[in-house]
Amino acid sequence: MCGIVGYVGPQNALDVVLEGLRRLEYRGYDSAGVAVVVDGVLTTAKKAGKLANLEKVLADQGLPAATTGLGHTRWATHGGPTDRNAHPHVSADGQVAVVHNGIIENFAALRAECEATGTEFSSDTDTEVVAHLLAAVYPTLPESPDRLAEALRRVSRRLEGAFTLVATHAAEPHTMVASRRNSPLVVGVGDGEYFLGSDVAAFIGHTRHALDVGQDEVVEIDRTRGVTVTDFTGRVVEPPSRTVDWDAAAAEKDGYDWFMLKEIAEQPHAIADTLLGRLSDHGAIVLDEVRISDQEVRDIDKVFVVSCGTSYHAGLIAKYAIEHWTRIPVEVELASEFRYRDPVLDRSTLVVVISQSGETMDTLMAMRHAKEQRARVLAICNTNGSTIPRESDAVLYTRAGPEVAVASTKGFLSQVVACYLVGLFLAQVRGIKYADEVAAIVDELRALPAAVEKVLSEMEPVRELARSLADSPTILFLGRHVGYPVALEGALKLKELAYIHAEGFAAGELKHGPIALIGEGTPVVVVAPSPRGRESVHGKVVSNIQEVRARGARTIVIAEEGDDDVLPYADHVIRVPRTPTLLAPVVTTIPMQVLACEIADTRGLDVDQPRNLAKSVTVE
Ligand code: F6R
Repeated sequence: MCGIVGYVGPQNALDVVLEGLRRLEYRGYDSAGVAVVVDGVLTTAKKAGKLANLEKVLADQGLPAATTGLGHTRWATHGGPTDRNAHPHVSADGQVAVVHNGIIENFAALRAECEATGTEFSSDTDTEVVAHLLAAVYPTLPESPDRLAEALRRVSRRLEGAFTLVATHAAEPHTMVASRRNSPLVVGVGDGEYFLGSDVAAFIGHTRHALDVGQDEVVEIDRTRGVTVTDFTGRVVEPPSRTVDWDAAAAEKDGYDWFMLKEIAEQPHAIADTLLGRLSDHGAIVLDEVRISDQEVRDIDKVFVVSCGTSYHAGLIAKYAIEHWTRIPVEVELASEFRYRDPVLDRSTLVVVISQSGETMDTLMAMRHAKEQRARVLAICNTNGSTIPRESDAVLYTRAGPEVAVASTKGFLSQVVACYLVGLFLAQVRGIKYADEVAAIVDELRALPAAVEKVLSEMEPVRELARSLADSPTILFLGRHVGYPVALEGALKLKELAYIHAEGFAAGELKHGPIALIGEGTPVVVVAPSPRGRESVHGKVVSNIQEVRARGARTIVIAEEGDDDVLPYADHVIRVPRTPTLLAPVVTTIPMQVLACEIADTRGLDVDQPRNLAKSVTVE
C-alpha cells in the first residue's frame, strides 16, 4: 500500500518527487525517502516518520539538483518503520536504488543466495534483495538501450508475491524502470517528461495522460526514447491509455467520492495481501513471524479475544472459528470491560488483541493487564510499529494498507481473515480435529479475494435500495451464528455513518423482547446463513424472517446464491457467493458497508469523518 513516484524530465526531480509524495502520503506514512541520479552518482535521503521528517533532513543535508528521481512513502510490511528500513534501498555497490510496494514472498531464499556471494544487507526489508539482484545482473548484460529494463525483467521473473518496483541506475541518468505484479503501476506522459506512480495522484499536478501497466509487465521511461512497455519476456506491449479528469483531491481517492468507498473497493487486495505467503502450496498455514513456539501453542488452554468496536466484531467471528477448529474455549471481551472485571488469566492463556490502529487505549490497557497476569499476547494489527504490536509477545500484521476513512472496512475484513489464520495455525500445531474440513478451508481462503470482487461488482441494487432507506428512523439487523456479529457490524456502520438508530440482534433473541420494536415498514436486514453445512441454522433464520415480516417489517435478506427458501419472505434479496459458513462474514459484511455508506451520502453527511468520532481512540 506504499506510495511510489518516479520522474524523468527537464524539471528539478526532487521538487516533482516531493510534490507527488505529499499527494501519496495517505498510502503510508511511517517513513519516506528519495533518490536522485546526476553525473553518474546516485544520492539518497530517507527518514522514519511522516514526510515532514524527510523534508527536514533534505533541508539540512540538501540533495544535488537532478532531473531524474524517485521517491517512496512507506506503510511497513517487512521490517519495522525505521530509518534503515525506509526506501529507497541501494545495492552494495551504490549503483542501483529501488523502491517497492508489495510483499516479495520468496525474499528469504533470494537473500540467502545474495549473502552466500558475500553481499551484506543493510535493512530488514524484503525489498533490498531486488537492489542487490539488479546490481548483480546489470553488468552481465550487453550494452543496449534497454539494458536496465532487461535486468529488471530478469529479476522480476524470479520474484514471487506482489510488487510494484521502480529502479534507477547511476550509469543511466535519464532512464528509470518499473515492473509490477498484483500491485498497481501507472505511467504519466507529459511534454518531454515521464512519471511513474503507484496511482495517478503521484503526477496529477503535471499531466492527465496516463498509461496503465498490466500484470507482469516492465516499463522503461527515458528522456529521449519515451515510454516502452514489455512483458517479463521482453515482448513489447501497447499499454491502455486514458485521460484522467479528476482533480487532485479525487485522484487521492482514486476517483471515488469518499475514501471509504475506495477502501471498500480495496478489500479484495487487502485480503489477498493478508493471506500472501501465509498459505503454503501444501495447504499449511505459515505464520513464522508470529514467533510462538509449538510447545507454547500446545500449552494454551484458553483464548481471550480483546478489542473494541468493529475490531470487537472481528473477535466475535474469531470465536466461532477458533473454537470450532481447535476445540479450545474462546472468550471475546470488550477491551474497555476486560481488566475491570478481574478475568482469570495465567501463562497458559492466549490473549489475542485486535486493533487496526495499534493505538487504541482501551485495548492497550487490557493488553498490559493480560501481560501482568503472565498471559501470552498475540496482536492482530494493521499498523506496523504501533504501540500494541510493540508491546505484545507476538504479532500478525494485517496488510490492508492505511485506512483513511474513520469507519473501518478493509481493516475489518483483513482482521477477520487474520483471525482465521490464527485459528487454523493453532489447530495445525495442536493436531487438527477436522483435517479434511481444514484442508478445504485453506482452498476456500484463497478463493476469498475473487468472491469479494464478485460481491463488489453487484452492489448497484444495494445502493439503489439504500437511497430508499435514507429517511428511515430505525433499521434493525439480524443474524445467527457468524451472521450475528455481521449484524452487529452492519448496525454499527449505519449508526456511525448515517446517525440512524440501528441495532443488531441474534435472530433467535428477537422473540425475547426486541420483536416489539417492529412496526409497519420497519426495515430489517437479515443475514441468512448458508443452507448447507453441519452448523446450518438456515431453517431457523427463514422462520425469523417470516416472524418479522408477519409484523409488518420490510425485509432485506442477504442470502447465498441459489438459496430460494428466503424468496417468499424477502422484500429485497442481496446475493452473495456460496462460501463455507465460517468464512461467510467476509462476503456478507460488504452489502452492510455499502448500505451504510450510501445512506450517509444520500443524507448529505461526511462519510469519511462522521461527527464525534476519531480514527484512533487514544483515551480510555
Ligand atoms: C468503527 C471503527 C471503530 C474501531 C475501534 C477500534 O468503524 O472503526 O469501532 O474499530 O475504535 O479501533 P482499532 O481497531 O484501531 O483498535
